[in-house]
Amino acid sequence: MELGSKKSKPSSKNKWLLSSTSSKWLKQAIDNPIEILIDHANCERKAAGVAIQLMFRYLAEPGLAEVLSPLAREELEHFEKVLFLLHARGSCLKQLPAPPYGGLLVKNVRKEEPSRMLDSFLVAGLIEARSHERMTLLALHSPEEELRDLYSDLLRSEARHAHLYWHLAEERFEKKIINSRLKELAVIETAILSNLHSAPRMHS
Ligand SMILES: [Fe+2]
Ligand SMILES: [Fe+2]
Repeated sequence: MELGSKKSKPSSKNKWLLSSTSSKWLKQAIDNPIEILIDHANCERKAAGVAIQLMFRYLAEPGLAEVLSPLAREELEHFEKVLFLLHARGSCLKQLPAPPYGGLLVKNVRKEEPSRMLDSFLVAGLIEARSHERMTLLALHSPEEELRDLYSDLLRSEARHAHLYWHLAEERFEKKIINSRLKELAVIETAILSNLHSAPRMHS
């Protein structure tokens, strides 16, 4: 696992996102650390699932599995890390009702190839980018040092993951097409998050 130094201060600067997370979300997340940890574990598991699903869908695509397989493994390492912390706090995994975020974003993936491939990379990258932005906030503002350390460790990988999806797109599509589609999807992403979901989630 590639992790940076815990000493450097995390930054939430992010080229993917059109909007910054609200202070309402941060308060909701900080007030509900265990629910956020459980949801976070589920997000890491789902991120591994997305990488594996793309590997299976584009089995013969040169250079894809080489990137997505280690990415899936790293997401599972993150999953295990969060799971370990949950157990240490006397809690465990459970299925939480998902907020509309992921489902609504995926609905905007076009059905025809190669647009479907581009949209899949961009939606995955946007989710990674938003995770990075929110983990940065938690790394800076969580009252407990243990949680600040956990999020500081994990967020560095999430920035790299967003970049990996960007790179996969760049290798296969014109920059102009990528930028214009990302702009459209980023508008949708911001609209989905414009009303805080009632349940505390990484993407509420
Ligand atoms: Fe992760
Ligand atoms: Fe990730």
